[in-house]
Amino acid sequence: MRHFVTSHTLILVVTGFLSFNAVESRLGALRRADTSDMMNQMNQPINENDTSNNATGDVDTPEPDECTGKIYVGNAVDAPYLEKQSYVEILKQYFEYITPGNVMKWDATEKSQGVFSFDASDKIVKFAKDNGKKVRGHVGVWHNQVPQWLKDLDGPGLINATQNHIKTVLQYYKDDLYSFDVCNEVLGDDGNLRDSFWSQKLNDSFIEMAFQAAMDAGTNIKLYINDYSVEGPGKKSDAYYAIVKSLAEKKLLHGVGFQGHMIVGKLPSLEEMKANLKRFVDLGLEVAYSEVDVRVPLPASPKDLVQQAQDYATFVTACKETQGCKGVTVWGVGYPDSWVPSTFQGFGDALLFDDNYQPTQALTSFEQALKGNLTQESS
Ligand code: XIL
Repeated sequence: MRHFVTSHTLILVVTGFLSFNAVESRLGALRRADTSDMMNQMNQPINENDTSNNATGDVDTPEPDECTGKIYVGNAVDAPYLEKQSYVEILKQYFEYITPGNVMKWDATEKSQGVFSFDASDKIVKFAKDNGKKVRGHVGVWHNQVPQWLKDLDGPGLINATQNHIKTVLQYYKDDLYSFDVCNEVLGDDGNLRDSFWSQKLNDSFIEMAFQAAMDAGTNIKLYINDYSVEGPGKKSDAYYAIVKSLAEKKLLHGVGFQGHMIVGKLPSLEEMKANLKRFVDLGLEVAYSEVDVRVPLPASPKDLVQQAQDYATFVTACKETQGCKGVTVWGVGYPDSWVPSTFQGFGDALLFDDNYQPTQALTSFEQALKGNLTQESS
């Protein structure tokens, strides 16, 4: 462990100044005036004595007006794609925040119990630093992409392993991550607590336990919860709200992620999305769309692509017009990088760049929405 920490610290020293000279991304440039103070704030050196993430300290609350209109545009990145030139150029040019799509997950970072490997995630963190991007860490407690040994543990063993995993990852990346998704998808599609090895062994207590461990790590990383099908009103969204409220009252988290994996034309209305974001912000938290893609039935019809462009604009506008909404992360760059075709049979073309990494009309609409021009909302 010590070896990892030492060599990693060296990388940070070498690349730290480069990150200060942030490459201005194209989407960033569109609203530079809006984001400059936020970016300045984020470029401040971390104060070692700042205990704001300690369980006893106060959770950051967005100041009035701090976040209105100041959103980042992020993208999920997988390590192998960093070898692809077209992919990398787009990332550099268009996106300000990146999320490791897979390599920071439990099965990648702790394959065997107690043996940590950050080689793949380090590549993404280094890319981010070299290119002036921020990193949203993903993910701690989840029911997918976990090693078998974790699933085989009994309740006390699971608690122990979780506390160790979260503390190790957060402390290792303490100077590198903007945020970390401590718990992901704890609710099932029906809005009840998901039936998983976590809930089978620990009921719902694993959620608070994981956030407490993250707070106890004592870093400045913003601690997020993350889920899907919670973007508008509904039973699952209400259940999410109840969990978040309870964590917020205990001062155990800072942010709420709304994944935003959507089917074209099936978004809640703009007003519903804004109202939903707002009720979470009103708990004193920041919010973000964390994994957006809008999938269309293949082959994509021109009508669906127009609708998709509007849907992307709706995400951007909902965030932009909600004080406390920090940004929109899109889950992949071009169609070839998307998890959609292999996960949702018959669907695809879900991202802002096409099969050949050419801009789509969804990108144009996204950019327009960042400038404040929302295309006609769908009925
Ligand atoms: C997906 C990745 O994009 C895929 O490459 C992988 O095979 C499965 O996981 N919700 C999440 C993400 O929180 O971690 C998932 O990412 C998509 C759904």
